[in-house]
Amino acid sequence: MESLISLVNKLQRACTALGDHGDESALPTLWDSLPAIAVVGGQSSGKSSVLESIVGKDFLPRGSGIVTRRPLVLQLHKIDGEREYAEFMHLPRKRFTDFVVNLTLIDLPGLTKVAVEGQPDSIVADIENMVRSYIEKPNCIILAISPANQDLATSDAIKISREVDPKGERTFGVLTKIDLMDKGTDAVDILEGKSYRLQYPWIGVVNRSQADINKNVDMIAARRRERDYFASTPEYKHLAHRMGSEHLGKVLSKHLEQVIKSRIPGIQSLISKTIAELEGELSRLGKPIAADAGGKLYAIMEICRIFDQIYKEHLDGVRPGGEKV
Ligand code: GDP
Ligand code: NA
Ligand code: MG
Repeated sequence: MESLISLVNKLQRACTALGDHGDESALPTLWDSLPAIAVVGGQSSGKSSVLESIVGKDFLPRGSGIVTRRPLVLQLHKIDGEREYAEFMHLPRKRFTDFVVNLTLIDLPGLTKVAVEGQPDSIVADIENMVRSYIEKPNCIILAISPANQDLATSDAIKISREVDPKGERTFGVLTKIDLMDKGTDAVDILEGKSYRLQYPWIGVVNRSQADINKNVDMIAARRRERDYFASTPEYKHLAHRMGSEHLGKVLSKHLEQVIKSRIPGIQSLISKTIAELEGELSRLGKPIAADAGGKLYAIMEICRIFDQIYKEHLDGVRPGGEKV
C-alpha cells in the first residue's frame, strides 16, 4: 500500500506541474482518469463501516508519523452527512487538513425503497439518480455493499451496479453482517460463487456492530475479531483466507495499482504533447527564452524527473519502450 500511495502522489505531482505550467486543459482529464472508490448499497447496509475499515488500516497509515510524512493522498466526499469527517477518518479534523488529496473515496447516500414521513415522493428516484451519476463514471471502482441478513435478490447495490457495469469489471461485491444471519443459515453458497456470481468473488466482512461502536471497540480489535470469526466458524473456515476487511483492502490495492499503471501511458502521451508544444513555442520565440517559457521548461524537467522515479520505483525500472532507467 505504501508503494501505491507514493505512486499516486508522484502522479499527482506530475499532473499538478502540468496544470500549473503546461497544458491547463489537460488537468481535469488527468484528475478524472485517476480512480475513485465508491460504496453503494441500501441504508444501514454497512457502507460507511466498510469505507472506514479500508481507510483505518489500508489507506491510512496510523501513528505519529502521519502529519510530518504526508504519505497519503486521499479525498473524502462526505455526501450523506450522517457523520462528521473527522469521526469517519478516526482522526482529529486539523490533522486531516495536512493531507495532500488525490485518491477519492465516496460515501454515497443509502438507496431507499420508500419515502419516509416528510420526504417528497421523488426522494427514492433522486437518490438513485445521484448514486448512478457517481458510479457510472468509468474510473469509479464500485463496492457493492449487501447485508447478508437480507435476501440478495433484493439487493439494490447489485441491481444498480449491474446497470452501470454489466461486465462487473469494476464492481466488488461485499457481503456485510454475516454475523447477523439467522441461526441455521449461512452465506457459503454466495461466497463460493455458486449463487449470484460476480466477475470478482464476493468478499464477506464482519464490521463492528452498533454495540461495538458504543463501546469504542477499536479498529485493530475489530479486525482481530473478524479474522477469528472466519477462521473459527466451521462453515467459513475453508474461505477464511479470502474473507474479511483486510483481504478486501489488499484486493482493492491490487486493483487500484493495475488501474493506475494502465493510466500511465495516457499521462505520458500528454506529457509528450506538452513537450512538443513547448518546443514549438521555443523555436518561435527564439532566444532569449521568455520568462513564461522558462517556467514551462522547468515544469517539464520536473515532470521528467518524477517519471524517472516512477519507472525506477514502480515499474521495475523499465520504460514503455523497453529501455532501462
Ligand atoms: P450505512 O448506513 O450503509 O453507512 O451503514 P453503517 O456502516 O452506518 O452501519 C449501519 C449499522 O450496522 C451500524 O450500527 C453498524 O455498526 C452496523 N453494522 C455494519 N456492518 C456490520 C456487520 O458486519 N456486523 C454487525 N453486527 N453490525 C454491522
Ligand atoms: Na447508517
Ligand atoms: Mg453511512
